[in-house]
Amino acid sequence: MDDVTDTVFRQVIADLAPADLYFTEFVNVDGLQSPGRANLIKKLKFNEKEQPLIAQIWGLEPENFYKTARELVEMGFAGIDLNFGCPQKNEIKCGACAALMNNRTLAGEIIKATQEGAWSAGQRTPVSVKTRLGFSEVDFSWQEFLLGQKLNMLSIHGRTKREMSKVPAHWDEIGQIRQLRDKISPGTLMVGNGDILSRQQGEELADKYGLDGIMIGRGVFQNPFIFSRVKPWKWGEWDAASKIKLYQKHVELFRDTWSAGQRSERPIATLNKFCKIYINGFDGAKEMREDLMHCKSAEELLSKLQAHKYNQAEV
Ligand SMILES: Cc1cc2nc3c(=O)[nH]c(=O)nc-3n(C[C@H](O)[C@H](O)[C@H](O)COP(=O)(O)O)c2cc1C
Repeated sequence: MDDVTDTVFRQVIADLAPADLYFTEFVNVDGLQSPGRANLIKKLKFNEKEQPLIAQIWGLEPENFYKTARELVEMGFAGIDLNFGCPQKNEIKCGACAALMNNRTLAGEIIKATQEGAWSAGQRTPVSVKTRLGFSEVDFSWQEFLLGQKLNMLSIHGRTKREMSKVPAHWDEIGQIRQLRDKISPGTLMVGNGDILSRQQGEELADKYGLDGIMIGRGVFQNPFIFSRVKPWKWGEWDAASKIKLYQKHVELFRDTWSAGQRSERPIATLNKFCKIYINGFDGAKEMREDLMHCKSAEELLSKLQAHKYNQAEV
């Protein structure tokens, strides 16, 4: 998730309850292969904890997908995922992401260029696509097209582009696409995505619809232990001091990762999304969030967290 699942958050999650597979935020290949590269390359930062890790990319120019795929293989990513599902105005306006559903010639060229780049060094680094059910309506001809492209994996977010995230995900349709997969491309792994709030719920959906995997996005905002297979962790029962200490750890990692130079590589406001995750579910959490979200630096944030009365008690 853009501006969420950076190396910092992936490391925090990996320490709490690791996911089986991680994805980077989506990274624009046309920007990456331009003088603006420095602004984007940071999104591809990772360490050994966040494994296996797939790089997700988007853009328009097949040549840039080819070049980027070669680089990603060299950097050691476990796979390359193409974003053909983002419904945001900026991406759609330029004809990228979900707009590629209406430009299959270009979508095919992008897949081919990425596969050639990913496979050029003799390794067969997997290439996958994440997309939606259709543009304005559910459109199985789109997934049929994708299933003809020798993809290693196809992830389906169970909504159309038009639906954005405004209606519940349509899992029956994801199941129908799995049946198409069985007929057209049995070797392509199928992953379902949309509205999963626990690992157990995800596994039940995978069983029901015969999927190879499930992808969790916003569910992690409600429970950072969501990927745990060991036991049903009760995030809601964590006390205030433990949650504050976890946020402290996140902010320290954020500072150490992104504030090496004069200027932080990521704005401090990026942390506000995380503040809502950790500073939640205890007396005074709302007021505390309001206070923390006004901080202008990681240091200011850390000193407020350190000084908080809940944080003074022994855990
Ligand atoms: C803040 C935010 C950023 C997102 N960024 C990406 C992204 O970079 N790439 C992507 O494939 N999906 C992205 N998504 C979509 C999610 O991956 C996911 O498909 C969608 O939220 C539905 O799944 P969920 O109900 O599990 O969240 C983003 C969603 C949110 C809320």
